[in-house]
Amino acid sequence: MGATQEQIYDGLDADLSWSERQLPERERTKHVHRLHPYLGKYIPQLVEQLFRRHVPARGRVLDPFAGSGTTLVQALESGLSSAGVDIAAFNCLLMRVKTREHAPFVLEHELRDALARFEQGEGDASDHSAYVHEWFAPRAREELLRFRSLVDDYEHADVLRVVLARAARSARLTTHFDLDFPKSPQHGPYWCHKHKRECTPVEKADHFLRRYTLDTATRLKAFARVRKTRSVQVLHGDAGELALPGPFDAVVTSPPYPGLIDYHEQHRYAYELLGLDDLREREIGAAERGTARAAIAAYSDGIVRVLDACSAALEPRGRFVIVVNDRRGLYPEILERAGLELEQRYQRHVNRRTGRRAGEYFEDVLVARPV
Ligand SMILES: C[S@@+](CC[C@H](N)C(=O)[O-])C[C@H]1O[C@@H](n2cnc3c(N)ncnc32)[C@H](O)[C@@H]1O
Repeated sequence: MGATQEQIYDGLDADLSWSERQLPERERTKHVHRLHPYLGKYIPQLVEQLFRRHVPARGRVLDPFAGSGTTLVQALESGLSSAGVDIAAFNCLLMRVKTREHAPFVLEHELRDALARFEQGEGDASDHSAYVHEWFAPRAREELLRFRSLVDDYEHADVLRVVLARAARSARLTTHFDLDFPKSPQHGPYWCHKHKRECTPVEKADHFLRRYTLDTATRLKAFARVRKTRSVQVLHGDAGELALPGPFDAVVTSPPYPGLIDYHEQHRYAYELLGLDDLREREIGAAERGTARAAIAAYSDGIVRVLDACSAALEPRGRFVIVVNDRRGLYPEILERAGLELEQRYQRHVNRRTGRRAGEYFEDVLVARPV
């Protein structure tokens, strides 16, 4: 008979439970990890430790819920090859920009050239959707649209698209304290809970475009200096349906969790401005579907489907390493249905000091193998 959940529980892992002082925000968001905001990532230092413990040197890793690409970026830094899948087109764009090997001189030249043309008033601002009309002040809208019309002229168009999305996020008509999921545009001055004073919504985007273009160039160069490997694949689609390019030595991932985050909706401005494919109906555990019994059942079915597909792409000695805050206790059954046996389970203490979602909680790391 196999061991039970409780027998397997290895307790709190102090080596994976960093305090803010041991691991400050600038380390957690080093180089490309901060190319664009993304709600729901795990931290690169955790991934690095999990690779050390569970992935052979020079091995190959799969992340079926790759999100903003933390696993893939860390794999490149740790000398591993990797593949990542995500259902959200913007996440795939972001991952490609983070992980591609950019030609440094061409990149620098193109970013500066695009910015110079923008500063000279080039570009066309005529074409926009109802969303763009509603969510940006006239000057911000004109600047973002002109920048967008220049992007296609460059080899590094995707890098410029990420800059544009980041600037658009900052330039939306929102309050400073509700940047993640603003419900309606904010037109006039308002009392700001973040800054404890009256603030007014942003009216222009040019300063963001300038600042983020330069910041992006710096971050991509910093990452180019520390990456050790080249081999990385980014696949857009449903991880339970795509042909996964195995074999892999390990699956290292943090799955979505029911009712918490809408991964498409958090980057709505990018979908609207860049015309990206919206596959939100295939998103597992989307917050908008709630947490009623049927939604939870659909969530579990979706995760089992993805784990099944990953098992088929795993080497016989391969392992699943799953980071999840399983507050509803869904994973024992999910693992069993996916034919996985839990080998190890440890907890880490997460103490987030910054942002509106600050607070402490515990997160599980589940290590399992196909039986
Ligand atoms: C918790 S996040 C992963 C974050 C990632 N670890 C990081 O650090 O950026 C879960 C991701 O699963 C993706 N996702 C949801 N349903 C999916 C599906 N059917 N196939 C592939 N990805 C999916 C979401 O778009 C989201 O980006």
